Amino acid sequence: MTAIQMETFKIVLLGETGVGKTCILSQFIDQIYQDDIQTSTGGTFSSKTLIIGNSKLLKLEIWDTAGQERYRSLTTMFYKEANAAILVYDITRTETYQELKNYWANQVKDSAPENIILVVCANKSDLINEERVDEEEVREFANNLGAIFCITSAKNSAGINDLFIQIAKKHTGCDNIRIKNEDEEIVIEEVNKDDNNNKPGTIKIDNDNVNYKEIGRASCRERV
Ligand code: GTP
Repeated sequence: MTAIQMETFKIVLLGETGVGKTCILSQFIDQIYQDDIQTSTGGTFSSKTLIIGNSKLLKLEIWDTAGQERYRSLTTMFYKEANAAILVYDITRTETYQELKNYWANQVKDSAPENIILVVCANKSDLINEERVDEEEVREFANNLGAIFCITSAKNSAGINDLFIQIAKKHTGCDNIRIKNEDEEIVIEEVNKDDNNNKPGTIKIDNDNVNYKEIGRASCRERV
């Protein structure tokens, strides 16, 4: 039986208190937004799986961290082994962008793995009329940092899925990526080794068929 190609990918959300890290995560994971959310005091993670092309699953393990200054030393341990870091600021609060530039970006560069994927995330785009941070300046900063720049609203969900898909695109180099639905049953079949059009051992994901299928003896079953 061929092993299923499933990779776990660790993402950490960083940034000042109140920028919307927890809301971004709950919008992405559960499509829920709450105005009266409590400030985070530690680190929690949630996961969601992406389907990469027709050959791979990428399980995102997303860590939400506490933005308050007193938790900063604790937060370090969350990005030490991260594959990607999302640096979030609030477009209505200049100081959250200043801290992103002066503290969070430097911290990640100093402590995180060298090949970490970085994202600068401008959150609360629904409050565009109250925007206080110059977007062009941030784009230039992100560019110099080698980071992806994303604009999101955890409130109305704009840009939220794209934020995570952009990271997966950069990691895998694949453009064909979609989010796996929670109740979606995926058939993973080992490709017939006699078929010259396919490389032996690759995996085909057939999302149209909710039942498990077997191809002769060379079949592989897994419910993800
Ligand atoms: P800490 O846990 O203290 O680090 O904060 P956080 O970055 O996790 O922020 P959180 O998600 O708790 O959101 C802070 C506040 O901003 C809450 O009142 C949210 O409802 C609000 N908020 C978050 N995202 C958005 C958004 O996209 N638009 C608007 N208008 N408000 C948002």
